[in-house]
Amino acid sequence: MTNFPISEFENQCTPFYFYDITLLRRTLDEIKRYSNHPGYHVHYAVKANVNPVILGEILNAGLGVDCVSGGEVEAAMKAGFSADKIVFAGVGKSDWEIEMGLTHDIACFNVESLPELEVIQEIAAKMQKVARVALRVNPNIDAHTHHYITTGLAENKFGINIEKLDDIIEAAMKMSNVELQGLHFHIGSQITINDPFKLLSEKINELQAKYGKKGITFKSINVGGGLGIDYDNPNENDIPDFYSYFNTFKKYLKLNEGQELHFELGRSIVGQCGSLITRVLYVKEGTEKKFAIVDAGFTELIRPALYQAHHNIENLTSNDEIEKYDVVGPICESSDCFGEDEMLPKVKRGDIIAIRSAGAYGEIMASQYNCRKLPKSVYKM
Ligand code: LLP
Repeated sequence: MTNFPISEFENQCTPFYFYDITLLRRTLDEIKRYSNHPGYHVHYAVKANVNPVILGEILNAGLGVDCVSGGEVEAAMKAGFSADKIVFAGVGKSDWEIEMGLTHDIACFNVESLPELEVIQEIAAKMQKVARVALRVNPNIDAHTHHYITTGLAENKFGINIEKLDDIIEAAMKMSNVELQGLHFHIGSQITINDPFKLLSEKINELQAKYGKKGITFKSINVGGGLGIDYDNPNENDIPDFYSYFNTFKKYLKLNEGQELHFELGRSIVGQCGSLITRVLYVKEGTEKKFAIVDAGFTELIRPALYQAHHNIENLTSNDEIEKYDVVGPICESSDCFGEDEMLPKVKRGDIIAIRSAGAYGEIMASQYNCRKLPKSVYKM
């Protein structure tokens, strides 16, 4: 559980991100403990948070990274990750991004279509390189999560439909500058039950059996990320259930002798260690509602506005009687609301509010809309 250093907060300019690095370290320890299995490799999905202090901790823990843009590859390399621990995914890789990946000899391109594979072959040939690739398969599995963060259904733009896979594998095997290493999957994000991971494992078993019969085997399988966090109980469940997550794959996924299994976890690693800290500017009494107007808006944390996500909201500076507030930001849009009918100890101007579970897809998705400044960060080491 996070204990906030409130007296330190008093002197800080709000809004800012607060990261509990001790919690991040404990989270990483749990991951290492339960993924300690022959052939298992955990990559951190950099898209969740690219804060250099956080990247440094993850590097020290020995994880690899999963990137989705040239900028992320650059950020990971700058943080010290070696190219042989970088996998690079994304439906629309630009030529310069492919060139950059090849120049650094990254571990693997996760390829999402035949046209992309052809461009990788062409660029690699020009550069006299061999691109290691995994084909991202769309397994058509419902992850039972928000439709904006579901990625593994046939209707989603991601991955190669299973019916097209035979042709693309055949094409890849004929390409002289492409080395087909494996199959990649990612079915969605904020998945809080293990069933979709079990279904994914069974689907991979089917595919491996099918290709095995044709004499096609893969060096590696990558099951992507997606493990969710408990947004409602960030103190009680500060570390996700990594035991059950890894155990689901240990139990249901049949790997070939010596085959590698890669994971790309983002939210579950960094989600709970971050909170957005903001100050109350005004309390406005409406006719039907009371508004706590804070100095952070969707420019600092867009998840509530974009996905109707709810993050727990705490008043860190008041123990008064509980009252009901809509907690809203200063941005000129009605969607700039962190929570409706929030029950909070009586709020007054200057109170410090924590918006919890904001370590993943928080700071990294911040924008400068309304010419606002990007948020700074404070750490508890
Ligand atoms: N691998 C791939 C190929 C991905 O697309 C993603 C996330 C991950 C791994 C990491 O997934 P995670 O373990 O974090 O669930 N901005 C949204 C989430 C978007 C997720 C995009 N892909 C949100 O705030 O909920």
